[in-house]
Order: sequence, then structure tokens, then C-alpha cells
Amino acid sequence: MDRSNVVPEFTHDWVTHHTPIWWTHLARFADRKASALEIGCYEGRATLWFLQQVLCHPDSTIDCIDPFEPYAQTGDFGLSIEQARAHFIANTSGYRDKLTLHTRRSQDVLPQLASLGRAFDFIYVDGCHLAADETLTGRGSS
Ligand SMILES: C[S@@+](CC[C@H](N)C(=O)[O-])C[C@H]1O[C@@H](n2cnc3c(N)ncnc32)[C@H](O)[C@@H]1O
Repeated sequence: MDRSNVVPEFTHDWVTHHTPIWWTHLARFADRKASALEIGCYEGRATLWFLQQVLCHPDSTIDCIDPFEPYAQTGDFGLSIEQARAHFIANTSGYRDKLTLHTRRSQDVLPQLASLGRAFDFIYVDGCHLAADETLTGRGSS
């Protein structure tokens, strides 16, 4: 799909207030091949920002991990998890050539990526922020 034909649809903004500091650290990747990992992508707002602002090189890629299943922190988000997944798919549809979605929990995907020798230029951890899940995610990425 032509990237310019996609009109993204978001209900939440956990991104805009971070972008000045993200840009400070990530601008150096904008003109070269880079690989990113995002843990917890929801509607794809951060994913799209990374793709449009940082992962501009034709060979740059992003791997996204999100199980899109009910979890302890979805209560206040408003969207059903099926709606969030549908928004993610639609919002990132212009970047299928650069994006790999792993529809499983980070605790399960990270050891697999590590065993494949995958490495990333930057990682955005924004999945479940409950202590038990954060700890498991941290162990999986070590
Ligand atoms: C705050 S939202 C992410 C927002 C997104 N990064 C953005 O900037 O728009 C948290 C997401 O983490 C996902 N999540 C929950 N537990 C997870 C886990 N164990 N591994 C990966 N993602 C998880 C949820 O499904 C949800 O979509």
C-alpha cells in the first residue's frame, strides 16, 4: 500500500510528549539503516512515529511485540483489544515491508529473538508495566 494513502486513527496519545527527547537520541539513525524493537504497540502510534521520523532508510526495520490479548492494564484504555489490533494493522499498513509483528507476549518472543542472534539499534519497552511482567521482559532481553 502507498504510505501516503493511510490516514492513521488513534484514540490514545502516549507519544507526543516523548518525541522531543526521543528525537534527541534517535535522530542519528534517520539517515542510515537501523533496526528497532517495540514491546507493546497498541494502536501503533509510537510505531508509526519511529517509522516516519527515524526508520527512514529503505532498509530500516521494526519488530513489534504485542499479544493483543486482555491483560491487567487494559481496563482504562477504552478500546477492545480487537479494536486496538485492528487500528495497529490499519495504521501501519503502509509499512508492511519494514514491520514484523509478533503477536505473543514479550516474555515468549524475546528469548526466541535472542536465540536467533537478533540485535537492535534501539528498543522501546512499553508493554505491561506491572512489576512481574517487566521483570520477565527484562530477563528475556538480557
Ligand atoms: C501502553 S500500550 C502501548 C502503547 C504504544 N507503545 C504507543 O506508544 O502507542 C501497552 C501495550 O502493551 C501490550 N502488552 C501487555 N502485556 C504485554 C506483554 N507481556 N508483552 C508485550 N506487550 C504487552 C498491551 O496489549 C498494549 O497494547
